[in-house]
Amino acid sequence: MAAEQGLSLVDLDEDGVDTKFRADVLQGLSEPQKAIPARWFYDDAGSQLFEDITQLPEYYPTRAETEILTDRCAEFRELIGTRRAVVEFGSGSSVKTPLLLGCIDPAAYVPLDISGDFLRASAEALSTQFPGLPVYPVEADFMRRVELPSEVATLPKLGFFPGSTIGNMVARTAVDLLRTMRATLGESSQLLIGMDLIKDPAVLKAAYDDAQGVTAAFNLNLAERINRELGGTIPVDALRHVARWNDDYARIEMHLEAIRPIAFEVSGRRFTMAAGETIHTENSHKFSRRSSNTLLLAGGWTPRRRWLDSAERFSLILADATVPRSAP
Ligand code: AVI
Repeated sequence: MAAEQGLSLVDLDEDGVDTKFRADVLQGLSEPQKAIPARWFYDDAGSQLFEDITQLPEYYPTRAETEILTDRCAEFRELIGTRRAVVEFGSGSSVKTPLLLGCIDPAAYVPLDISGDFLRASAEALSTQFPGLPVYPVEADFMRRVELPSEVATLPKLGFFPGSTIGNMVARTAVDLLRTMRATLGESSQLLIGMDLIKDPAVLKAAYDDAQGVTAAFNLNLAERINRELGGTIPVDALRHVARWNDDYARIEMHLEAIRPIAFEVSGRRFTMAAGETIHTENSHKFSRRSSNTLLLAGGWTPRRRWLDSAERFSLILADATVPRSAP
């Protein structure tokens, strides 16, 4: 593992600049439709703003998923069984993860995250809450196949990927990730995955453009991060947060729109934006029963059971690793 060898998963140049961040930003700002991958939202300020988003009255996904985890505990225990190794893709939420672990009495918990700091903090909190549970945090990019700790090698696995984070990926990337998860977890594994549902666009738009402006601050923090870390001169006051529903792709898109013509530099390169031009910063895909099933099947998982919250806004799906077959 990189962390054990003293290597970091983040490449910093001699000025301490994250080289992948710079490459993504410079390339993304050079495209005809400017676009920056959503993963770059999550510096310390962005992670805190995302936590604040999850508490907003308009942002229903966190509450809805927590409701399902609370209400369906007995069913999870029956269908998943006890004594699995729970492998969480991401550091884990202080609310959702304990709910699941408390229900299914796992034999081990393995959180995977690219950020060692978050990983260690949340792993420690969990160990305190579940004193008898072996916790094996792994610092890794779960978009690639991860070698799990030898201690869990013989245990059946349950992958846990809550929050509808799968919806932040375009279909091709989502399928790649599901297949990679399947390779990481192995035969006879299961996956419990959160997928947000298609609903009234007005409800969706409010969830991504809240009255207090927290989501706007989250989006604009990306421009501020570029200025902070990449020597950027983006006039942030000339950008506004836009959340729009793209019905063809069933997704909320977040953009940063220039309210006047602007010119700026990033890492010594010059860029311009016309008034009304946008930087596309995030997709949040929403699913129907059929589209979530299709995506899971394409990724090598057979959906077994699907639960909704009482207001039918959000789904949590349990799937089995599909056994390869040749026909039809
Ligand atoms: C992390 N992810 C599932 C969130 C979402 O709902 O797509 C990120 C987010 N963006 C704006 N608000 C929340």
